[in-house]
Amino acid sequence: MRPWTSVALMLLCSPAFGFQAQPSAIPHLERHGTATELVVDGKPFLMLAAELHNSSSSSLDFMRPIWPRLAAIPLNTVLTPLSWELIEPQEGKFDFTVLDGLIQDARRNNLRLVFLWLASWKNGMSSYAPVWVKQDTRRFPRVIEKDGNPVEILSPLGTETRDADVRAFAAVMRRIREVDGDAHTVLMMQVENEVGVLGDSRDRSPAANQAFDGQVPPELVAYLQQHRETLIPEFRQVWEAAGSRTSGTWQEVFGASPETDKIFMAWHYGRYVNHVAAAGKAEYPIPMYVNTWLAGPKSSPGQYPSGGPLPEVMDLWKAAGGAIDIYAPDIYAPNFAEWCDRYNRAGNPMLVPETRGGTAGEANVFYALGERNTIGFSPFGIDSWQDADNDLGKSYEVLAQVAPIILKHEGNGEMAGFLLDQDHPRTTVEMNGYQLDVSLDEIFGSGAKTGYGLIVATGPNEFLGVGRGFRVSFSPKSAGPPRAGIGYIEEGTFANGIWIPGRRLNGDENDQGKFWRVAPQRINVEKAVVYRYQ
Ligand code: DGJ
Repeated sequence: MRPWTSVALMLLCSPAFGFQAQPSAIPHLERHGTATELVVDGKPFLMLAAELHNSSSSSLDFMRPIWPRLAAIPLNTVLTPLSWELIEPQEGKFDFTVLDGLIQDARRNNLRLVFLWLASWKNGMSSYAPVWVKQDTRRFPRVIEKDGNPVEILSPLGTETRDADVRAFAAVMRRIREVDGDAHTVLMMQVENEVGVLGDSRDRSPAANQAFDGQVPPELVAYLQQHRETLIPEFRQVWEAAGSRTSGTWQEVFGASPETDKIFMAWHYGRYVNHVAAAGKAEYPIPMYVNTWLAGPKSSPGQYPSGGPLPEVMDLWKAAGGAIDIYAPDIYAPNFAEWCDRYNRAGNPMLVPETRGGTAGEANVFYALGERNTIGFSPFGIDSWQDADNDLGKSYEVLAQVAPIILKHEGNGEMAGFLLDQDHPRTTVEMNGYQLDVSLDEIFGSGAKTGYGLIVATGPNEFLGVGRGFRVSFSPKSAGPPRAGIGYIEEGTFANGIWIPGRRLNGDENDQGKFWRVAPQRINVEKAVVYRYQ
């Protein structure tokens, strides 16, 4: 059992927390082989999701015409902000009008929700804190940067700020438990948004300077020693290059560089956000994640939020507390697969909470699912999409059909996903006793420029392929006859889990039996049956 699962179970069963629901009854994470699944109402759930623009859900009226458009995409989950400024406009006075209304409207449209708790930070800044927090800079101190000026970023070293955020988030989670503890419309919570210091590599407020010149906390040193072999290699390298010291100031232990400032900030943001998440889980322990503004090429800490949960500082966040279940990337960069690969390490489950929709999203979702077992995929700004942008919807329509098969096979080495283009025209995969050579589709000298898909081994000698623009040849990798041929290829659809065959694909459609072709014209679902011979 994973540590967070056991923590969730302990919290659920503890009378101290008052909440008596059965553990399996609320959304939670479960390990399935090497994958992590979100389990909702006792069944694994694949979030085919999208995120609203930042301000849309602040008005239930504004949202009214948007809901049916979302339901038509087709999505099953909407990620939507829930802001501290609207929840607690006056200190200690909570207003749940928007929270309750969004849950009811989502239910009416047969959609699930993930709430984004925009509180102390959003895109690094603190614009979503209520005015009573913003104006009291003595009680709620700001980050101070190199020039000595406070900026509109709450300092993560402000304990009164943290405790105020904790009280508000605990109230939110209590309310969600009261209004949704049975129906489970709300699946997960994002705690804060893209945190980190912008404009400088670290906070230089008096409290931060004092902590920075002090000793590295013993809890962090203990974590480094206990997890030395499994630390994220990029982070371990920084520590080892500075001499693998187990005591000293931050600069003595990690070296004097902006990277150390980032490590220091990651520890303090990690402590703060874990504290907020833990208080929320004490009320209602559904899964909680944090999202990350990713570093651009050749950029330095402060150009992107310094201290946010980037892969190279994920260990700092983990050392800082155990309440965050998933560290997640907001992938707008073109190297989508690379970022997935960097996040889906060291037991971190995959979730893509923000990304591009359109044709990029249409393709990328296949890699995230097929190769990285993602729990959910969620392009940003769904409410401004026009019908013409709905390329992703075409993928979701097909993926919704095959979701039960994906969920059954993920995490056990029987599934692969791929993105192909002119720079990456082929890849090989081994599964089900075969090597599969997957390449850009081609027939009679004309070929696809891009291709994507996922393949699942659904039975002995049987494969399911979904996507477009790729072709596959098979070679045996297990004992038995040395050659493999294509028995037959069928396209089709799933209706309520039942396979409805369409065309038998032969002749030009499988290059006279040489390749399993999933042609580029449209997203297709195809079954391939192969055989062995002497
Ligand atoms: C990332 C943020 O997390 C979102 O809230 C939004 O501001 C997008 N950037 C805009 O691209």
